[in-house]
Amino acid sequence: MDRTIAINVSHLCKSYDGHKAIDDLSFHVYAGEIFGLLGPNGAGKSTMLRTLITLLHPTSGAATVLGHDTVREADVVRTLFGYVPQERAIDRFLTGREHLELLGALYHLTKEEAARRIAELLKLVELEAHADRPAKTYSGGMKRKLDIACGLLPDPKILFLDEPTLGLDVPSRLRIWEYVRMLKARGMTVLMTTNYLDEADQLCDRIAIIDGGKIKTLGAPAELKIALGGDIVSLTIKETARIGALAAAVTGQPAIRTVNTTATGLDIRVESAEKAIPAILDAANRLGCRLEFIDYHRPRLDDVFIAHTGRSMKDDLPTKEE
Ligand SMILES: Nc1ncnc2c1ncn2[C@@H]1O[C@H](COP(=O)(O)OP(=O)(O)O)[C@@H](O)[C@H]1O
Ligand SMILES: [Mg+2]
Repeated sequence: MDRTIAINVSHLCKSYDGHKAIDDLSFHVYAGEIFGLLGPNGAGKSTMLRTLITLLHPTSGAATVLGHDTVREADVVRTLFGYVPQERAIDRFLTGREHLELLGALYHLTKEEAARRIAELLKLVELEAHADRPAKTYSGGMKRKLDIACGLLPDPKILFLDEPTLGLDVPSRLRIWEYVRMLKARGMTVLMTTNYLDEADQLCDRIAIIDGGKIKTLGAPAELKIALGGDIVSLTIKETARIGALAAAVTGQPAIRTVNTTATGLDIRVESAEKAIPAILDAANRLGCRLEFIDYHRPRLDDVFIAHTGRSMKDDLPTKEE
């Protein structure tokens, strides 16, 4: 793989009225990779992307895109990327094709060039048959495809995707993953954000897990899982009021590494499930906790998230998108 650094972020901070939305982020993205920022709502993912696209100025620290500083050389940086925002801008009476034509004019493409690229992109995202219908009649998946076509219109080297599949149904999500993989195969560098663990796991070459504006861990999903080691034992218990007591009872037992409480039970990192399960069941019995469900597995990406943030992404209450 090409080890050229396409995007470099160094000690970047961004505060809103004294609140640190991103707090000392440092990472780099190699040319040609799909890099994911994974984190719950409010983690600072969109703020990070908006800084890279020169829309926000960092409070401190710096970032470069293909070697160009996002503040001092903002004009150059703006010619290098395509951007697909989190919130949909597409809700007008314009047709899909007209959206792209309008954008082509903004990018100063010649009529011929715009027509050629628009035809190509409509084909890529499978919207040819719907190109001349008002975009407000599109399904969520079709709107997202049009968003992506808009992001690709300037023929960028780098694509920033903010939550590309948020709220889409499974088939639409899978189609979008396919496009992203195809773009990578064509040599594009992709920096995307997601709050879907499976998306980060299956689509990204490397990810940074961010929470509360900070990077908690960074690496290839497979490496992050291997690094946890051992097995994960997950318990769901009926007496949720006793979760804390059960956690205290199993903590420090032989073969048990770490214990995390969840909304419905415990996630326990163990040396080996065979050694640890008898002790866990014993403790549950003593405390009168009835087990609803017990499962053990090799570490998954959600276990990586829990190990590094001390909480589960699934425990996040759904919050309204702004
Ligand atoms: N324009 C803004 N003004 C004030 N606070 C903001 C603004 N944008 C984002 N924030 C806050 O910064 C934090 C990070 O937000 P954001 O980058 O949108 O997170 P994410 O994209 O990971 O959900 C949140 O606490 C959010 O409320
Ligand atoms: Mg966001």
